[in-house]
Amino acid sequence: MKEEKLKQIHTQIFSFIQELKDQSIENFFSQFQSGKMLRSKLMLSICFDHPDIVKLCAIVEMIQNASLLHDDVIDDSLLRRGEPSINALFGNKNAIMLGDVLYSKAFYELLFFDREIAKTLSDCVVRLSRGEINDVVMAQAFCPDKARYFAMIEDKTASLIASSAKSAAILAGLDAKQYYTYGLNLGIAFQIVDDLLDVFGNERQLGKPAMNDFAEGKTTLPYILLYAKLSKSDQEILQSFFKNQDSKAKEWIINKMQEFEIFKDTQKVALDFGMQALEAIKGDESLEKIVREMIFREF
Ligand code: FPP
Ligand code: MG
Repeated sequence: MKEEKLKQIHTQIFSFIQELKDQSIENFFSQFQSGKMLRSKLMLSICFDHPDIVKLCAIVEMIQNASLLHDDVIDDSLLRRGEPSINALFGNKNAIMLGDVLYSKAFYELLFFDREIAKTLSDCVVRLSRGEINDVVMAQAFCPDKARYFAMIEDKTASLIASSAKSAAILAGLDAKQYYTYGLNLGIAFQIVDDLLDVFGNERQLGKPAMNDFAEGKTTLPYILLYAKLSKSDQEILQSFFKNQDSKAKEWIINKMQEFEIFKDTQKVALDFGMQALEAIKGDESLEKIVREMIFREF
């Protein structure tokens, strides 16, 4: 049943794109790899039957895809989901404009929804952008500041997951606040697991190079937790490996991560956020399953 709805969401996005009546946009978009549609799956678990849920999911997926198109330009990423990114295929200018098209069309379609839904999702795009700015600013220098990391991932990742859950709840006539809290905690857990997999996953699982975050300048939670456990001299060594692509540096880091059991520590933090998500929606089995699958995923 859910698979059928996911197909309908794909078709809806495609018809939104076709309404723009432009061959170049259709060509660029046809090369875009759709992801796991995690946000849509979550929204369908909250509101399955409402006649407008497919459109709402399509809007959310378009916002998510727009943000990734821009993010790959910002991060100079040539791979997305294991395939060449749109910026790698068509250049930065086209990737940015395709992002603008998706994002603007999503906003136009939001106008036909309840004001609270439009408000939640548009406010969330401001947060996404603020998160991305802080991600870039924080990448200028090694940044083992946990509070700044949590504020940034809440904006960059969790805000859209929270707003997706909240808007589906509004459509279904459910308690918006409860589902927002669920989504926010789930989103934070999701990003922590993403950051964990970057260190411990391999290129095949990730669809992009492994241990890329620190080399790109992102001091993610596993690095923050490791830094706190290292001796003064090892802290200096870790800091000197910031933005370093060297395989010797990566080997040193992974050995220290293993020695100090950073996988376990980081997963524990993700689990704590997962527990807070569960607490918000107590007893809803399909939403509980999403939390479990998210935390114990391998890619
Ligand atoms: C991926 O982060 C990026 C995001 C989750 C959000 C990016 C947000 C923007 C570019 C601003 C919003 C803009 C629009 C047009 C809606 P990452 O680089 O840590 O993850 P990755 O490894 O998947 O690239
Ligand atoms: Mg990126």
